[in-house]
Amino acid sequence: MSTVRPEAVPLATGSTEYSRLLAEFFVQTHVHYVPEEIEWPRLGESDRQRLAGLPFWQEAVSTENVTASTVSAAATLEPDAAVREAIELQGFEEQRHARLLRGLTSRYRIAVADPPRYVPRALEHDFLFAGFGECFDSFFAFGLFEIASRSGYFPTALVRIFEPVIQEEARHILFFVNWLRHRRAQLPWWRRLAFRARCAWIVLEHLVSRVKTARALGGEDAAAGTDNFTLSAHQSVAESVTLRGLLEICLSENERRLSGYDARLIRPRLVPSIARVVYRMLPARI
Ligand SMILES: [Fe+2]
Ligand SMILES: [Fe+2]
Repeated sequence: MSTVRPEAVPLATGSTEYSRLLAEFFVQTHVHYVPEEIEWPRLGESDRQRLAGLPFWQEAVSTENVTASTVSAAATLEPDAAVREAIELQGFEEQRHARLLRGLTSRYRIAVADPPRYVPRALEHDFLFAGFGECFDSFFAFGLFEIASRSGYFPTALVRIFEPVIQEEARHILFFVNWLRHRRAQLPWWRRLAFRARCAWIVLEHLVSRVKTARALGGEDAAAGTDNFTLSAHQSVAESVTLRGLLEICLSENERRLSGYDARLIRPRLVPSIARVVYRMLPARI
């Protein structure tokens, strides 16, 4: 992992130094593992059933699949060779998440249909959509994973297998927000405005979708509850934790997981800021 450099002087976004930092951070923090070589722990029947009963496997497999196809395809848009290589590596890692989930679901007899092959249509838009989606999903995944680890909801051996996957998602969102900033800095000012507007629209789409999921979890619209699997996982994994408690753990885990990387990289701010506002507004018992 790149070490934190508290004395580090920020680099100018859009500069060659910044793109080098972006690419190097990502490639150097890549962790090697092969999903097909993982020795899945033997689970007792009640643990297996609990795992199989979680409602989000299909959604998780589909999301990883779509993200892997989108990121791999979008790498071709990147003009800088080193940054392109980093995006290709992210595509590989997303594909590896899909392979890992395939391994888990077949080992524990969890019925999941093969998602249809996803062909990105508007590459840059789909890449932005996937990137912002990961910023929301990963934030909740950090907290839920911590709650599930502490409570023993998942056997320790499974937690150990998924730890590098969760940390990979932290790297992905860190890469994405810095790539976004770098890309924007390279555009002429009139295209920068349009780019900002497109990003704002995509963020709004994700926000509306998460609010729908949260409402569905409150029982107001059951049909929307299957989307946004990390948010809806709250109901199964962290039933006894209040929404306020969940946000608190998400915020501290987000901070912890992103703290170890080069201090010159900006940290994702959008989702933690929204979470902080919601946290302050919620009464303690919710
Ligand atoms: Fe992933
Ligand atoms: Fe990811």
